[in-house]
Amino acid sequence: MSTRISVIGMGTMGVGIAQILIASGYEVMWLGHNKNSVEAGLAGIDASLHKAVKKGMMTEQKMTDAKGMLSTTTEYKDIEGSEAIIEAVKESVDVKIDVLRSADRHRGHSVIATNTSSISITRLSEALEDKGAFLGMHFFNPAPVMKLVELVVTEHTSEEAEGRARSIANACGKTAVRVNDYPGFIANNILIPMLYEAAILLERNVAEKEGIDTIARLGLNHPMGPFELADFIGLDVCKEMADSIYDATKDERFKTPDSIKGMVAAGKLGRKTGEGFYIYKEGRQGA
Ligand code: CAA
Repeated sequence: MSTRISVIGMGTMGVGIAQILIASGYEVMWLGHNKNSVEAGLAGIDASLHKAVKKGMMTEQKMTDAKGMLSTTTEYKDIEGSEAIIEAVKESVDVKIDVLRSADRHRGHSVIATNTSSISITRLSEALEDKGAFLGMHFFNPAPVMKLVELVVTEHTSEEAEGRARSIANACGKTAVRVNDYPGFIANNILIPMLYEAAILLERNVAEKEGIDTIARLGLNHPMGPFELADFIGLDVCKEMADSIYDATKDERFKTPDSIKGMVAAGKLGRKTGEGFYIYKEGRQGA
């Protein structure tokens, strides 16, 4: 019998994490908020699996086998008996604490991990009876493609919990890097100042946005330029991450540039709203 992992949350990251687990041979119990989120989650994972097939990352047969490993539920009791529980609900301390408390009641002996990009793992650990079983597993978007997981440990995280989380990440083909709990961990402490510096250079009219993106792609070998990437992540998400790091550190590098603040206020959030730094038509960059 295969090992069972529970995933909570059916947004972009929940879909990606559930996908990599079922594709790696884990049975997944996928918990959604209500019937509508389950339906949306299933549509999302179906589209994402088809994308993976189209890109030659898996065969049709492997996709069918993977789908057979997935069960969905809206009841916390169904997560009982899991090797691990991975929470990937929306990036809000209150919502995450609520979900983690509910999950903890059905945890049994499982490791419990949160996928967050900037919320303090130590703060979230307050939701749990046994803080030793808890850590952060920070996956990157798109989860099926990105090879890294930041394993974020608190002073309470046990070696066993860290080891089990690392084994799961490795079994999914990811490299796991241990990081001590710190505002923004490592990747976003590098990423946000880079994105914001690009926006400031654009505000100063040093080059056009297309030029700055080309420089990062061809001069630094980044797969996407900073504006393409910011649009891909979502400008609201970038700002939320930056605000969270700024609140904790008061580090000026995380103060959102006016141009990005303006776009967020105007609802120009990037690809998901059809406009950010660029205009998108059917997911493609337009004029
Ligand atoms: N399964 C599901 N979706 C996939 C996929 C797969 N196997 N492979 C690619 N995709 C998605 C991409 O996300 C993209 O989404 P849309 O359809 O919504 O546009 C789409 O397929 C098209 O991909 P393309 O074929 O056009 O491009 P590609 O495959 O050559 O590369 C990319 C796409 C992987 C996103 C690449 O450009 C890349 O690596 N970009 C950088 C991504 C990055 O830096 N991510 C980290 C973001 S920061 C973060 O996640 C941390 C945080 O806390 C917010």
